[in-house]
Amino acid sequence: MKTIRWGILGCGRIARKFAADLIHVADATLTAVGARQLESAQVFAKEFPVSHVHGSYEALVSDPEVDVIYIASPHALHHEHTLLCLNHQKAVLCEKAFALNLRQAKDMVETSRARKVFLMEAVWSKFLPQYDKVQELIASGELGDIQNVLINFGFKPLPPVPPRLFDPALGGGSLLDIGIYNVFYALAILGRPDTIEASMTPSPEGVDEQCAMLFKYNCGAMAQLFSSLSSNLPTEADICGSKSRIRLTSRFYAPSATIEFFQGREDSKQLIPFHKEAGSGYQYEARHVADCLREGLTESPVMSHADSILLMETLDRIRAEAGIHYGADTN
Ligand SMILES: NC(=O)c1ccc[n+]([C@@H]2O[C@H](COP(=O)([O-])OP(=O)(O)OC[C@H]3O[C@@H](n4cnc5c(N)ncnc54)[C@H](OP(=O)(O)O)[C@@H]3O)[C@@H](O)[C@H]2O)c1
Repeated sequence: MKTIRWGILGCGRIARKFAADLIHVADATLTAVGARQLESAQVFAKEFPVSHVHGSYEALVSDPEVDVIYIASPHALHHEHTLLCLNHQKAVLCEKAFALNLRQAKDMVETSRARKVFLMEAVWSKFLPQYDKVQELIASGELGDIQNVLINFGFKPLPPVPPRLFDPALGGGSLLDIGIYNVFYALAILGRPDTIEASMTPSPEGVDEQCAMLFKYNCGAMAQLFSSLSSNLPTEADICGSKSRIRLTSRFYAPSATIEFFQGREDSKQLIPFHKEAGSGYQYEARHVADCLREGLTESPVMSHADSILLMETLDRIRAEAGIHYGADTN
């Protein structure tokens, strides 16, 4: 099998987790890293074995020995950095949130299609074994018709608080950082909501410190979603059907979750087994990207362009309801 040569753009926290998980991916190598300053890339290269160390993103995307670039910069820069990669014919795995708004997301997808270069949003939760198990349980009819999805995700960041979390210029706020997982899960289970209600608590910087969302469906189903950067919430997901329900325990979107099945009340709890392996969970999406590249695809059949567009459109609808605005919305 052809070895897939990865480059990483931006040497921050998630870049390190992703690099560590590449060890669990066969026929993959971390070939290059690029940072705004050479020193940042050099520090990274001391922690992870990587042969090409670049002091600019332009140098990284011009590296002929890189097949695919994992974009690990703050969300506000995903549009710019994705276009930079695609315009240099580099395949892209772009961190969530894919972009700041639908206009940017469409531009990214159109560029991928025009240049015939692979592009996928790094919604890693969709590649975890528990996601497949949840979809299997729903499809089997064991839960009955899904009536409601209740998901909360909250943490209180400890000092030093990463500046990107609350900086409006970097796309700060709870919705795009963590509420996006709740939205993704609700869409994956119930589809596009017919109506959205949403409200937020602004932080002193003006981004959403908390965001409450209600998705309503004409069939009567509802999803109640909540994200918070001001308190440590259980970070669980309840998926409830007309026959039974399941709970993804903390953290519902990550490998640490378990799946609890309830036929009736709380004391009817059973644990649903599913495959677990070593690693932080980013290896699954990396394997999938490698498979797509080997097949010559420009779009993932699992996390498609349409999936990213729907996710972004829904985030835009929530922001419009809740009054969450970014400078990029008016540019
Ligand atoms: N999938 C997940 O589980 C997960 C978890 C956390 C975060 N994320 C996503 O990953 C992205 C990065 O998050 P992070 O927590 O890794 O952030 P971070 O630690 O702040 O790292 C972001 C990196 O982006 C680069 N960068 C480029 N322009 C920047 C600017 N103007 N300001 C700040 N940094 C800039 C910097 O790298 P250099 O200076 O080295 O170039 C920086 O280290 C976000 O979109 C976030 O939503 C995903």
